[in-house]
Amino acid sequence: MKQANRRRFLALGPAVGGALIGCSGEKKQAAEEDGPNRLGKPISEYGERSEFEKARRLRPETKTPEQASSRTPLAEVHGMITPSSLHFERHHAGVPNIDPAKHTLMIHGLVERPLLFSVAELKRLPSVSKIYFIECAGNSGSEWGAKPAPDAQSSHGLVSCSEWTGVPLSLLLEEAGVRKEAQWVIAEGADACKMNRSVPIAKAKEDVLVAYAQNGEAIRPEQGYPLRLVIPGWEGNINVKWLRRLELAEQPAMSRQETSKYTDLEASGKARQFTFVMDAKSLITFPSGGQKLEGPGFYEVRGIAWSGRGKITKVEVSFDAGKNWQSASLQDPVLPMAITRFRAGWRWDGTESTLLSRSTDETGYVQPARAELIAVRGMNSNYHYNGVHGWKVETTGAVSQAVQPA
Ligand code: CO
Repeated sequence: MKQANRRRFLALGPAVGGALIGCSGEKKQAAEEDGPNRLGKPISEYGERSEFEKARRLRPETKTPEQASSRTPLAEVHGMITPSSLHFERHHAGVPNIDPAKHTLMIHGLVERPLLFSVAELKRLPSVSKIYFIECAGNSGSEWGAKPAPDAQSSHGLVSCSEWTGVPLSLLLEEAGVRKEAQWVIAEGADACKMNRSVPIAKAKEDVLVAYAQNGEAIRPEQGYPLRLVIPGWEGNINVKWLRRLELAEQPAMSRQETSKYTDLEASGKARQFTFVMDAKSLITFPSGGQKLEGPGFYEVRGIAWSGRGKITKVEVSFDAGKNWQSASLQDPVLPMAITRFRAGWRWDGTESTLLSRSTDETGYVQPARAELIAVRGMNSNYHYNGVHGWKVETTGAVSQAVQPA
C-alpha cells in the first residue's frame, strides 16, 4: 500500500512528488499508525471543524463587547459562501436569546389588515432561497484615515455572504394590504435597544426577505435568530436582526441609526442620509497583509468582489501599482448582490510590487481609486468606503498594506 501511494505521488510530477517524499519520513509513519489502522471517532449529532483549523472572527479589545463588531477572516475562507460561524457580527445591544415558540412578527401601521405571525406560521408560507452578501456600511472604514488596517480581516472583514431562506416581504405586505399613503416600512428588532431602521416602500416590495434560515439551517443567534430582514445589496445595519415588528408609515422613523449613525458627513459639512446601497468593491485576499510569499515564481492571486447594484461583470488586477491592468477570471456562478470570487495568475519576479484589484458591476459602475472617491466624498465619513485597495509585496515576500496617495 505504501508503494502504491508513492507511485501515485510520483505520477504527479517531480515537484509535487519531491515535496511529498520530503515529508514522508518518521512523521508520515506516525500518522499512519494513528490513522487508517485505528478506529476514529464515532458519529455525532452536530458537526465540528477539525481541531487543526484555526480561522476565527477577529474581536476588538473592548469593554463593551455587546456593542461591537467581529470580522470574517477573509484570507482564510474559500468560495462565495461564508460559513455561518465566521459571518461577521455587529451588535448594538448584545445577542438576545429568543425562544422561537414565543417570538412573533407584527405588521401594522398603514395597512388594511394588521397581522401577527408566529415563526411557525411564517415557515408555512411560500419561501425562496437566495445568496446575498451582507456588508456593514463601516467596512474598510479605516481606509478613510491615515492608518488603514494592516490585513484583509481587520480592514475588509465586515462583509460575508450566505444563502438566506425565507418569505418574500412583498408577499406579507400584499397580505396585510399596504395603504397608499405608506412610503416607509420601519423595521424593529427584539434586541435590548430595539434597533430600528426605515426601509423605503419600493425596496420593501422589490426583493426583501424575512429570513429564518442561513446556509441550510436556522439563522445563528448572532445573525438574528429566529428572524432577520435581508435587504439585498444594502448596508448591513438595515438588515434588521431578531425582527419583531414592521410598521408601515408615511415618514421614516429618523431613528438613531439613520441620523446620528450611518450618515455620511461630506467635506461641505452636509451629511448624506439614507445611503443604503453598498457600491461595487473588491479585495485581493491572497496575497494579502500579514502573509509572506516564499520566493519568486508563480502564484494564483485570489480575491472577492461584490456590488449592491447587481452582478459583478469584471474584475481587473494590477501587479505594478496600476500601470497595467488585466482581467481576472470570475468563478461561476456570478450572482447579483453576492460575493464573486476572482483569480489571476501572477509570476512574481521578486521585485517590490503593488497589487491592486478593481471591480465593475452590471450598471457599468467602476470601483473608484482612493483619490477619486475622496474627491467626491471628502474625508469626514466613517462609512461607504469602496476605493481600490492595494497590497505591497516587499522583496522579502512580506505583504503589507500599500499606502495610497490621498
Ligand atoms: Co449608508
